[in-house]
Amino acid sequence: MLYISDEEIAEILTMREAIDAVEKAFGEYARGSAMMPPRSTMMIDKHNGSVSLMPSYLEETNALATKIISIYPDNPRKGLPTTVAWIVVNDPETGMLDAMLDGTYLTAMRTGAVSGVAARYLAPKDSRVAAVIGCGAQGKTQAWAISEVLGLEEMRVFDLSEEGMNGFAEEMGPKLGLDMVKAGSGAEAVKDADVVLTATTSRNPVVRREGLGGRVPRGGRGGVFPRHRGLGTRGIPGGEGGGGRHEGLLGQGGG
Ligand SMILES: NC(=O)c1ccc[n+]([C@@H]2O[C@H](COP(=O)([O-])OP(=O)(O)OC[C@H]3O[C@@H](n4cnc5c(N)ncnc54)[C@H](O)[C@@H]3O)[C@@H](O)[C@H]2O)c1
Repeated sequence: MLYISDEEIAEILTMREAIDAVEKAFGEYARGSAMMPPRSTMMIDKHNGSVSLMPSYLEETNALATKIISIYPDNPRKGLPTTVAWIVVNDPETGMLDAMLDGTYLTAMRTGAVSGVAARYLAPKDSRVAAVIGCGAQGKTQAWAISEVLGLEEMRVFDLSEEGMNGFAEEMGPKLGLDMVKAGSGAEAVKDADVVLTATTSRNPVVRREGLGGRVPRGGRGGVFPRHRGLGTRGIPGGEGGGGRHEGLLGQGGG
């Protein structure tokens, strides 16, 4: 059985490939050739965490895989990542196990790539300034993804953790070739920004509609727990949900 580690995936997968693959999968879903039952989640309330199962099948691509993902927001205090995942890949014709993949890096890349697809189609083409609220693993890959598809010049960042904000600016500034501006608050970060990303573990909205400029398409990543909120409800187009599967958003997502 093939095992591919996070490190090996990081060596071979580019963000551009991740964005293109996510766009192709969305296309299959829209054409009805993808199967993706709602994520099944066990909340481990005692330890403020969750473990979810996420199976999916792409008929056109001929790919069958299930992700097992655990999300423990208190993990960083123990020196561990919030989000850790593994992916089981089956042969679609026989159901036999083909491969096991570390899924942590892929999860961050895939989630970032979704924002890349959204930015590719929804962001103003002349976007120059992006705001990122939440400087953890997801914030980094979302920032990477939107900078792949937009001609950004400046990224304003805000995080409750000064250390997180500094780490983000030091790592992502040179990597993306962008000026990083640390903001004193979320409201300061989003003021007049062309694109806004939220990737926090906050239970309360970190951005409200009143603070957003008129051009902003709201690239909110959406918390995976109902109690996690990125955008205020009125900040989401239509006030109900941004992108993603409808039943998943209504039943499981935050905002
Ligand atoms: N939608 C998806 O597919 C998907 C996939 C994976 C993770 N997630 C979600 O993404 C979120 C972030 O995950 P991560 O792995 O980047 O976590 P992380 O712990 O690495 O980063 C979260 C960051 O948010 C910051 N933060 C928390 N509250 C804040 C606030 N009010 N204002 C500003 N910053 C704040 C924290 O200081 C931290 O730096 C989690 O809620 C997770 O559930 C979503």
